[in-house]
Amino acid sequence: MKAVVCTAYGPPEVVKVREVRKPSPGRKDVLIRVRAAALTTSDTRIRGLQYPPRLQLSLRVVVGLRAPRRVMGLVLSGEGESVGTDVTAFKPGDDVFGFDNRFKFGAQAEYACWPASDLLARKPAELSHEEAAAIPYGGLMAMFFLRRAGVRHGQRVAIFGASGANGTSMVQLATRAGAAVTAICSARNCELVHALGAAACVDYTTEDFTEANVAYDVVVDAVGGLKHPPSRARVAKVLAPGGVYVSVDEAMPRFTQADLEELARLGADGSLKPVIDRTYPLDQIAEAHAYVDQGHKRGNVILVV
Ligand SMILES: NC(=O)c1ccc[n+]([C@@H]2O[C@H](COP(=O)([O-])OP(=O)(O)OC[C@H]3O[C@@H](n4cnc5c(N)ncnc54)[C@H](OP(=O)(O)O)[C@@H]3O)[C@@H](O)[C@H]2O)c1
Repeated sequence: MKAVVCTAYGPPEVVKVREVRKPSPGRKDVLIRVRAAALTTSDTRIRGLQYPPRLQLSLRVVVGLRAPRRVMGLVLSGEGESVGTDVTAFKPGDDVFGFDNRFKFGAQAEYACWPASDLLARKPAELSHEEAAAIPYGGLMAMFFLRRAGVRHGQRVAIFGASGANGTSMVQLATRAGAAVTAICSARNCELVHALGAAACVDYTTEDFTEANVAYDVVVDAVGGLKHPPSRARVAKVLAPGGVYVSVDEAMPRFTQADLEELARLGADGSLKPVIDRTYPLDQIAEAHAYVDQGHKRGNVILVV
């Protein structure tokens, strides 16, 4: 089968599509004919080893010393082809979508084996495979960090980096929780974030939101350190008494099967709209990496398998 692999850590050109052996499911796995896979910022950061030096060695130990040793990809949507003997939740022919919760990777390939009980759920019939693959990465991160920040009805919430994969999910889920959301992104994305529910939009290229005369209950950095979020000291100036600042880089998020199933429900009833910037066929994987590397994607980039 065709699969995305990396020949080394490095620029987009190290990513190749190669023939590899089709995986066979263990007793607890579902063998999935992948139809769409997300190309996330995590994939491109792993490929380029874009982590602080103190984390690079641990990443190499987990993922591969000289190159990522596995088929790449954390998020998939596809059709169940066969199931292991212990699997009762799914049957062959079910459309499923999922997130790799165990650093096993393998989503960017024609076939993948996924554990049936760990972040695999039925794809909502209302969504295409491409749309379903655009939900788990940002959706699960958004759920975890909004919960960590304690976002609730009536709060004023500012989301920095509102137009990325995490940001577009956070804007929608925080709005749905009843918060008044100020989205911080560049002007070209203001229309998008308003359509997702943001009450206000601040263009970070012309305005510093930490200089405004407002008091937020919560500020969330949705994009992390590579994109220069404001420091805690600066954010403190716009936090209401007791307000909190949470960054997607500050904790290792924990995701649950219940969260993925909730995202499936929200995707099915239209409460969470998948945001897709571009789709690429698998054989344009290097171009897709180069695009994500630019750091300005809107929502998600999806590989069509
Ligand atoms: N804690 C963990 O274990 C963990 C796990 C996974 C990911 N993460 C974090 O999540 C990050 C990925 O988030 P993501 O996938 O949502 O990012 P993303 O989709 O790559 O973000 C792209 C968006 O960032 C905006 N942006 C770029 N530069 C900006 C700036 N200087 N200020 C404000 N916005 C800016 C862009 O908008 P414009 O085009 O308008 O600039 C673009 O829409 C990772 O890099 C990592 O930091 C953490």
